[in-house]
Amino acid sequence: MNVQRSRTFASLLKHHRNAAGLTQEELAGQARLGGRTISNLERGVNKAPYRSTIRRLSEALELSGEDRDEFQASALHPVEHSRRGDRTVIEGGFLGALPTARLLAREEELGRVLDALEATEGDSGRLVLLAGEPGIGKTRLAQEVSVHAWGRHFLVAAGRCYEAQSGVPFYPFLEALSTLYEEAPTGIRGAIPERWPYLAGLLPDYFPSRIAVPSEGQEESQRLLRAVAGFVRAVAAERPVALLLDDLHCADGASVDLLAHLSRHTRGDRVLLVGTYREEEVGRGHPLRKVVWGLDREQLVEKVSVMRLGREETAALMSDRLGGTEVSEEVTALVYDRTEGNPFFTVEVLQALLERGDLTNREGRWIRKEIEELEAPDSVSEAISERVSRLRPQTQNALAAASVLGQVFGFEDLRAEVGLGDEEAEEALEEAEASGLIRAARDLYAFNHALTQQTLYAGLSPERRKRLHRSAGEGLEKIGEKVRRERAAEISRHFVVGKSPERALPYALLAGDEAEAAFAPKEAEQHYRSALELAEGVGDESAASEALEKLGGVLATTVRYDEALVALERAAEIYGARNDPEDAGRVEAAIAQTHFRRGTHDGGAARLSAHLESLDKPG
Ligand SMILES: Nc1ncnc2c1ncn2[C@@H]1O[C@H](COP(=O)(O)OP(=O)(O)O)[C@@H](O)[C@H]1O
Ligand SMILES: [Mg+2]
Repeated sequence: MNVQRSRTFASLLKHHRNAAGLTQEELAGQARLGGRTISNLERGVNKAPYRSTIRRLSEALELSGEDRDEFQASALHPVEHSRRGDRTVIEGGFLGALPTARLLAREEELGRVLDALEATEGDSGRLVLLAGEPGIGKTRLAQEVSVHAWGRHFLVAAGRCYEAQSGVPFYPFLEALSTLYEEAPTGIRGAIPERWPYLAGLLPDYFPSRIAVPSEGQEESQRLLRAVAGFVRAVAAERPVALLLDDLHCADGASVDLLAHLSRHTRGDRVLLVGTYREEEVGRGHPLRKVVWGLDREQLVEKVSVMRLGREETAALMSDRLGGTEVSEEVTALVYDRTEGNPFFTVEVLQALLERGDLTNREGRWIRKEIEELEAPDSVSEAISERVSRLRPQTQNALAAASVLGQVFGFEDLRAEVGLGDEEAEEALEEAEASGLIRAARDLYAFNHALTQQTLYAGLSPERRKRLHRSAGEGLEKIGEKVRRERAAEISRHFVVGKSPERALPYALLAGDEAEAAFAPKEAEQHYRSALELAEGVGDESAASEALEKLGGVLATTVRYDEALVALERAAEIYGARNDPEDAGRVEAAIAQTHFRRGTHDGGAARLSAHLESLDKPG
């Protein structure tokens, strides 16, 4: 396979057409294409031809073997990136950014997604999921899809999931929907309060005050899903939409449900949904697993497995990263034997060898230095650790602390966690950025890859991890009221891991309230359950009853009345024992109401009269 392409599709088309002795019109006729198509392609006006167009052209030009491969591949890998409307797009290794280096191989996988892209333009919405191991190139492949989508004038919106934010309802959609909102036609934007008021909750930057609606529970989460789908469809009626979500194995349950809802309700619209996930992390009980299984049965999802690169492809990747210079057979063998074709591992090992000075460029060829028993790092984490160890100790410390915050972290968050001065923190982050281990994007920093953060985190001693989590929680707490509320789930987690359950407890309750207000009852349930566990652990009865009462409320909204009654009865018991008439009255009313909703009116009435009688008794 010819993986070292450099000629553009435009130049190859012209070359082969001339070789076949055809005029532009003649070729268009033979390929059954429109008159201007060939001219537009040859002038580079259209850099992203349809797959069917490429097929027709290679047939009409009677291309075969390597020529045909090269021709098709050049169309799949546009050399220049199309600009994304009038928005400026940053370059980087994350979904939503422009890729910084060429995509190698992946013809087949990319082709499948591009077929879906093409189908989408013909009003046939699709969902494609890219699955594979960490570092295999899922994000990179999805980035290529976004480049093609931009080239075809799609409105492209991306969102990413991170482990540390997996308790935040709709986390990946918050960013994706903001992008859609910003790029949507004014008329559609203006119609949101009227037509899709529930959407406002997912666009906090544009609609800071939440809409006040009486809590109707389950119906509300359905309304939210319908509002998002309605908005996306309205936008897609004006301009095709590509919605890309990275790392769904870290998605919250509400986001997974929303993705499934969108895929079911945009089948007749110009909406392409693309998601990526780590295959190995979507085990039994993972919300994504059940949903993908269901969608698969309904034939609503196409799964593309992203596999390891071959030896030649690995060599091409290395050569590409070394500025196109040839890599000796010996060096290829050294790296490929270790990395077995995992691109991230390959790139990191290469970088480690370069930083060590074990790789040198001699007469335009990369060779290994003649050192006896030269060893390449054995694992991704070894390669990363080796690179980190070359940084100044302060920088290493800052990175270790940052790894506790997650794959993305704010400058303020880090400073608050480690108590560094502005200057020290800036210096450390600058050095880390120069090494390529982190990157800065707007007001946030991010590790170059989840594996980098995970390696650093895994390298912390239990004692240090505990300490850093606790100070991360304290740091976030200090930043302010807004952070305490919006990031309650994160703060709670820091205190749980930091072994301060009593401090985690109020934030678990708060995180539940936040999730409920965001119409994500399942997430709220999880937070209330953790709050209950924490309250029981520290023997805080009052918090336990609060958690139970809230849990009962949220279970009732999801029509799980039996479980709701169990929780509410337990809350009533605690309030009763505490002799607290106000709290007891409220929970009794909730029990009665749950009975009524469940259809066991008698049970509800009996409960209420018993309670009223108890109040009459002189206490
Ligand atoms: N097909 C490819 N061609 C060139 N570089 C690639 C390819 N696949 C992955 N890479 C590079 O390998 C690294 C890891 O890829 P990434 O997409 O982040 O992996 P994943 O998302 O599966 O964890 C990135 O630097 C990426 O640019
Ligand atoms: Mg990725």
